[in-house]
Parts: sequence; structure tokens; C-alpha cells
Amino acid sequence: MIPCRFLNAVLFTIDEDITLLVSSKGKATIQTKKVQECREQNLQHDKQKIRLINPANPWWYQLGLTTREGKITADLQHKFKQIYKYAEIVESLIKPMKFDGTVHIADMGAGKGYLTFALHELLTQRLNLDVDIKGVEIRPDLVLKINEIIKADNLKGLEFVESSIEAYHPEKLDVLIALHACNTATDDAIASGIKAGAELIVCAPCCHKQIRQEMERSGKVDVITRYGIFLERQAVMITDTIRALILEYFGYKTQVMEFIEMEHTPKNVLLVGRKTKAYVDKDGITRQIDDLKKKYGIERHYLETVLPLIG
Ligand SMILES: C[S@@+](CC[C@H](N)C(=O)[O-])C[C@H]1O[C@@H](n2cnc3c(N)ncnc32)[C@H](O)[C@@H]1O
Repeated sequence: MIPCRFLNAVLFTIDEDITLLVSSKGKATIQTKKVQECREQNLQHDKQKIRLINPANPWWYQLGLTTREGKITADLQHKFKQIYKYAEIVESLIKPMKFDGTVHIADMGAGKGYLTFALHELLTQRLNLDVDIKGVEIRPDLVLKINEIIKADNLKGLEFVESSIEAYHPEKLDVLIALHACNTATDDAIASGIKAGAELIVCAPCCHKQIRQEMERSGKVDVITRYGIFLERQAVMITDTIRALILEYFGYKTQVMEFIEMEHTPKNVLLVGRKTKAYVDKDGITRQIDDLKKKYGIERHYLETVLPLIG
């Protein structure tokens, strides 16, 4: 749109100049002239878009995710897709949030740190946030190695902590993340996020042994769960439904979704809990959990034992 006080406008492109002429009577004509000289396209004034994850950053090679040339190694292609998708979702969840200064984040069961570094890169370089990100990991060798990489690359606001999830009690926590924390370690992560009052909890659970074993032990096999594969799937659904209900119970508006296609990981369920101040029907939720447990012969869900539902 050209404001009406202009009578002429020229658009300079690499190979032609296009002129719009407006007469005093308001008649418009367009003239096009081929350019003789060789013009180069100048992109300097274009705003550079920062990528979500840039595999050329040195830490990706140091963590073993890429080759020296910044190419994702063949056997970690699926892992890369997982963390990319996860980071994409976390970005969309964090963007509308308001933080009072530094954003405090814990990645529980952080392992080799792929997701932790991806979050650090995303939040500091793309979203320009001031962060305090802790990767909580029980294996001391990993923690040592990763902290050396963090130091070598001078990554501010990122640190690995050698601790079990259960024993880690952050003073301040805005966002809790966990990707494939084994079995009940996901429950410990959720409990830790709720106890610390995290605004956002994002967990992609791993195996679901605890509930599966309870279902098997109870002998309450129905027409579906008598087939091993469906027992497994049912255990996943029950475990994560109860996790979602417990999040709701503690005031988190909770969504359950798939974060990535099955071909990249069959463990592709994502629980997203956002803290709200809305009224919660605690009795109703407790009843729903009890009904589910009764139906499948489950005595307890591990998350209830670390985070009792009170009142
Ligand atoms: C399957 S790996 C996932 C690692 C990482 N989140 C990822 O997806 O790349 C699970 C990690 O959680 C750690 N872990 C398991 N239970 C834990 C616990 N209770 N406390 C702390 N770390 C734990 C394991 O040592 C392992 O490194």
C-alpha cells in the first residue's frame, strides 16, 4: 500500500527497476527497465533467524550428537528428532509465559544432556532469556564429563548436578522437564515439580513397569489385557492417566499428547501440566483414580506414595 501523497514509486530488484507513476489525474502506469549493471543481493539488513538447534555449535560434537563437521551422526538421527520436537513444544509453551528475571529449569534424568543443551541453546540464543538450567543426573561419570563441556564452551546458566531426582530439591523452579526418565523416575520428577511449585511441567515418560507389575500380580486380567502387548499398552495408558489426574489434582491444567511420530520412538507420549488457580474438584479426581485402580487391581500408583493426595 502506497500512501496517497506519493505520485512515484520505484522498486529496485537485482535485474530490473519497476516504476509506478501516478498522474495528477490519478491515472497509474507501471514501467519496467532491465538493469545493465551486475547487482548483488544484499541480505545484511535481513534479520537473521536463529535456529532452534544449530548442530554446528561445538557442544553437539563434544556431546557426541554430531560429527566434527556438524552432521548428526547416523545412529542418533532419531534422538535428534526427539529433542528437536521436544524443544519445539517447550518453546511454544514458554514463549507466552512471563518470568520475573532468571528462568529456573530442571531437566530430570538428563542423561547425556542432549535435551538440556538444546533447551539452553533455545532459551538463551533464540528467546534471549536469562536462565538457570540444571541437568539432574545420577551417574557421576556423565555429570563430570558434561560439566567439563559446559566449562570449555563457557555456557552460562547451565550446570549438571549429580543427584537422584528424589533427593534434588530446588529452591526455585519455573519449569520441570523430563525425557524418558526410567519407570518411576518420571513420578519422582513430577512430584518434585509439583512440590517446588513449577509453573510448567513437561514429561515424556519411559517404561511403565510399576503399574504393569501390579496389574499382572492382581490377576485381574480382562479380555484385553490377557494379550501381552495390550497389557503393556494398557499399563502405559493407566500409568499416564493417573499421572495426568494427579497433576490436575494439584492444580495443573494437563494435556496428554504425542510429541513425535512413533517411528522415532514408541515412547512418544507427552504430559504437559500448566499451573492454574482454577477450582479443582479434588474429591471427583480422587474417585476417578480409585475407580481406575480398582478396575485393574492396582493397589497404589507410585506417584501417590511420593505425593499423597490430601484433603
Ligand atoms: C533413558 S535416559 C534419558 C536421558 C535423557 N533425558 C534423554 O532423553 O536423552 C534416563 C536417564 O535418567 C537417569 N536416571 C534414572 N533414574 C534416575 C533417578 N532416580 N535420578 C536421577 N537420574 C536418574 C539415568 O541414569 C539415565 O541417564
